[in-house]
Amino acid sequence: MSGFKPTVKVCGSIDEMSAAARQIILGEVQKRANPGRPIVLALSGGSTPKKLYEEMHTHDLGLLKGHSVLFIMGDERLLPSDDEQSNFAMATKALLRDVPAEDVVAVNPSAALETSADEKAGANGAWKVAADYEEKLLHRLSLSQTCEETGVVRPVLMVDVVLLGFGSDGHTASIFPGSIAAQDDDHLVSVSFPSPTMNPKVWRITLSKSVIVNAKHVVVLAGGKDKNWVVHGVLDEHAPERSPVSRFLRDCKGKVTFLLDAGSGEGVSPSS
Ligand code: 6PG
Repeated sequence: MSGFKPTVKVCGSIDEMSAAARQIILGEVQKRANPGRPIVLALSGGSTPKKLYEEMHTHDLGLLKGHSVLFIMGDERLLPSDDEQSNFAMATKALLRDVPAEDVVAVNPSAALETSADEKAGANGAWKVAADYEEKLLHRLSLSQTCEETGVVRPVLMVDVVLLGFGSDGHTASIFPGSIAAQDDDHLVSVSFPSPTMNPKVWRITLSKSVIVNAKHVVVLAGGKDKNWVVHGVLDEHAPERSPVSRFLRDCKGKVTFLLDAGSGEGVSPSS
């Protein structure tokens, strides 16, 4: 019997999905307010969360700032930071433009730009960017944990809310099927090159599976029929014949919420 008990909501529109996501984020922010530590919100990329970010910009900036929310990128495409396909550029335009710089930890892609489109030669540059981002995150959020079995002290990255999307190839964050990040159990920030069907074809850096699995609340926003198999592949207890890489979300230790639309949520039973 699986212990995986996500909350599932099928929304009638992107407005409804964004409003539901906002409500979750604001609830978590108010619940987790702690003067000793910022509340960490990992932003996703792609097109689906844009409306949510715009709504947060219009209504919530004061509250988020008052509760010391630290915005980080859950994954990033290694493009110049002002490229319109960069996740940070999208998030900045929609939300972060009026957030003080000290409340944002962004990826600096410069070490990888020359080789980012080269699947074979680009990994070294991507790892440099990943290491730099990991260091920046740990510097802001230094925490460590002692392994009970070995006594080894390891850095941990505790994220309060991770926003995620799904891709039609089964990916989440930038953990693409068959990529380095999909096999990586050692890093907090990992690297990957996208599947042949996914764009833009540039190296990505991504929070690793272990960071996502340990987050306090993972919120997936997925819209479109092409994501329906991925949703079923994660929600169905018995592994389907073609399992998406995102199935690792079943190991999440915190809360998991799926906000779907009619296409991605077809045949899915909403939780009561
Ligand atoms: C990326 C994303 C990715 C995205 C999904 C959904 O860099 O591509 O972070 O994981 O969230 O592909 O994208 P859409 O919202 O555009 O469908």
